[in-house]
Amino acid sequence: GRLDFSGVWRFRELMPFYRDTDNIVTIGEGRTNLQDAQLLAKQINHKPGNLFLQYEGLNPSGSFKDNGMTAAFTHARLVGAKRVACASTGNTSASLAMFASLSEMTGIVFIGSGKIAYGKLSQALEYGARTLQVQGDFDACLRRVRQITVEHPDLGIYLMNSVNPFRLEGQKSIMFRVLEALDWQVPDWIVVPGGNLGNCAAFGKAFSELKELGLITQIPRLAVIQAAGANPLHKLVNEHGLTWNGGRYDREKVRQFFSEMDAADVHAHTIASAIEIGHPVNLPKALRSLDIMNGVVREVDDETILEHKALVGRYGFGCEPASAASVAGARQLIEEGVISRDERVVCILTGHVLKDPDATVTYHTGLDVKAIQDTAPRKKVTGRLANP
Ligand code: F0G
Repeated sequence: GRLDFSGVWRFRELMPFYRDTDNIVTIGEGRTNLQDAQLLAKQINHKPGNLFLQYEGLNPSGSFKDNGMTAAFTHARLVGAKRVACASTGNTSASLAMFASLSEMTGIVFIGSGKIAYGKLSQALEYGARTLQVQGDFDACLRRVRQITVEHPDLGIYLMNSVNPFRLEGQKSIMFRVLEALDWQVPDWIVVPGGNLGNCAAFGKAFSELKELGLITQIPRLAVIQAAGANPLHKLVNEHGLTWNGGRYDREKVRQFFSEMDAADVHAHTIASAIEIGHPVNLPKALRSLDIMNGVVREVDDETILEHKALVGRYGFGCEPASAASVAGARQLIEEGVISRDERVVCILTGHVLKDPDATVTYHTGLDVKAIQDTAPRKKVTGRLANP
């Protein structure tokens, strides 16, 4: 039936909140595949046949977020939500807007002013979400939207950010599909960009549950790659020695770290706008995943991210800047000797190349996109339908 067309709901028995199929909101999300990136492998000095790309840009809204949104919207429908909201660097809002329109809920998205790639903004508008620009960055937006949901329960706003555990349940399916594509031969490494650390949290949970069920015997190692300008996990783990330690991680150290950042008015800043996040909400769950998956954390600078984004495109795929952090990070770990040539590596390409055309055009032409557009004649196009 219909559910078989979803690469998320095919695995519904592994999502414990699921009861019946009546409320499921689905649009063919998760029909993504694992690509054997032989040409790219050569470019990053890895053995061809041992580098794979999990191509999440193929989702209906063009990013991995659809995996989580289908699950969270299904839960929202189960509890009778009418309004849903999120803070977003763009992909969450695009996915939320799509699922909100499908399920006849009012979508409200909070975007940091000037912080969103145009592909993503255009999706939120097209699907008809109420799109609000907030003075400030993603972290400020998320604080604001969380505050509104808590302080105004009367508004009945259902929160769709990855603090929502049902989002993470759906995102576990990314790992189920990777394993399915490899005939359940567990790869050696999963490499993922880290922003709010939702994927990171979901992947560790997925593997620990599969092992507990006896469906796998080994767990791959996790590499979380952050942008150098948005690297709290990297700093906390590699510079401050933070570990999960059976759940008794050093909360005081974390509190102090963030209060020092706030006091110095440090904000996340990177060309990879999707992962421009200074206060990741899933930090504790990410620490747990690093523990479960014997993980490592690395940072890569913006120039390296853009170079690797161009390589991913040039050698047959294509992704947005944040996604390329995974490939850049894999290369770094290969050069460090942490990843060896014999190891099978899966990089997650989290979002489609069309999400952030400005970054791409600027990279290849060296020109400011606005400058290019200004040379073209302008003609006002008047739509026949009024924007509702
Ligand atoms: N890659 C892309 C393309 C993203 O959009 C995001 C997050 C990430 C990676 C990071 O994933 O949070 O699970 O560590 N985007 C969110 C948004 C924050 O609002 O669209 P994470």
